[in-house]
Amino acid sequence: MKNIDRKKIESLMEKETKVFVRNHQRSKALFTRAKKSLLAGVPMNWMVRWAGPYPIFSKEAHGTYISDVDGNTYLDLCLGDTGSMFGHSPKPVADAVAKQIRKGITMMLPTEDSIWVAEELSRRFGLPYWQIAMTATDANRFSIRLAREVTKRDKILVVSGCYHGTVDETLIALEGGRVVPRSGNIGPPVPPEVTTRAVEFNDVDSLEKALRQKDVACVLAEPAMTNRGIILPDPGYHVSLRELTRKYDSLLIIDETHTLCCGVGGYTAAHGLKPDIITMGKPLASGVPVAAYGISQYVSDKVMKRILDDGTDESGLGGTLSGNALAIAAMRVTLEKVITVKAFDKMIPLAERFEKGINDAIREFEVPWNVTRLGVRIEYHFMPRPPRNGHEADANKDSELEKLMHLMALNRGILLTPFHNMALISPFTTRKDVDRHTQVFKESIEALVL
Ligand SMILES: Cc1ncc(COP(=O)(O)O)c(C=O)c1O
Repeated sequence: MKNIDRKKIESLMEKETKVFVRNHQRSKALFTRAKKSLLAGVPMNWMVRWAGPYPIFSKEAHGTYISDVDGNTYLDLCLGDTGSMFGHSPKPVADAVAKQIRKGITMMLPTEDSIWVAEELSRRFGLPYWQIAMTATDANRFSIRLAREVTKRDKILVVSGCYHGTVDETLIALEGGRVVPRSGNIGPPVPPEVTTRAVEFNDVDSLEKALRQKDVACVLAEPAMTNRGIILPDPGYHVSLRELTRKYDSLLIIDETHTLCCGVGGYTAAHGLKPDIITMGKPLASGVPVAAYGISQYVSDKVMKRILDDGTDESGLGGTLSGNALAIAAMRVTLEKVITVKAFDKMIPLAERFEKGINDAIREFEVPWNVTRLGVRIEYHFMPRPPRNGHEADANKDSELEKLMHLMALNRGILLTPFHNMALISPFTTRKDVDRHTQVFKESIEALVL
């Protein structure tokens, strides 16, 4: 195995930063101006986390390409961190949104499209009843409330290293068996051990121990972890998760937001999972803000009386703009014409090619890394074998190397997802795009190995 030359990381970073600044003068000027009116110079703080000393300002995005204000064009493998996983502004969605926007945006009344959408989600994911939210964070928050209402319990259980949006109960870390606030989490409302239990992913014994006390309202989990790189479940893990949640009367909430990359019915349909509640958001309406959560007959029966009680605008579920006509129209056309079996039939072979390109380069240069694929999502880790849980993934994180690899890719016209070595294949991605990434990946390793 060959090692990475740490000294080269520093010198290459200096060189690549100069290239970045030379090619992004207009973005630099905009960022200087933005810092006077936007917190940290951006409308949402994650946007300062890209590689490079300041963010590039985007001008337009179509399909799988983004152009910036300096006239550079990028192959986009981040795709809005999944929000635009099925391509930027797909034409059918742009047309449907333009049409709906002239017919009313938000009326706080249902439209017929909402029935179509719920029927289609039921068909794909198997759960009979649906509610619409604006973001996946909200879908998770509302689902946790439902679980607490149904079970009359207050604790929730998550896996260490999870991310489910800015849901207070889930922004935790597991340190020496204790649930503590996650570093960098701004303003936690209460010490998280008050609300939350946590176990490592793939650890069935700890899961049973945590559920045995019978005070856990729900387990909220991604079917495969995607926020510490891709971490796949061990064979049999989901069978145990379902059996144990049933045995101890906790609800199982599966967060499919990122695992929609697995197919038209997410990981749930691909692997026959049977959750009580399922949540999802991001690409459901091609990036127009919308999210959805599906619930079982049992959950519906348990909460219906409260839902129908007067005064339920204060029920803690939903929000003024949830289920608005525009978002629903965008979701309908996305489900009908964009997130389709045909699209996946095209994307999966390209994702396999992408994975193989990385694998071949890892072998060619003998670096101790590995690559994992989940449907059309691909991620490499700086460790010789795939991690089994969040702890292992964190222990092998190399932020310096990651930033440099991302900057090298960006300077060569490729955008990777910040905080990850993650790439998404969209229906617009081509073989040429995939091979270009492989080439840049190879060049980067070649420049870095001892
Ligand atoms: C698995 C998962 N669930 C939920 C969310 C929250 O999505 P949003 O930020 O759109 O609310 C995220 C965000 O990255 C996520 O990764």
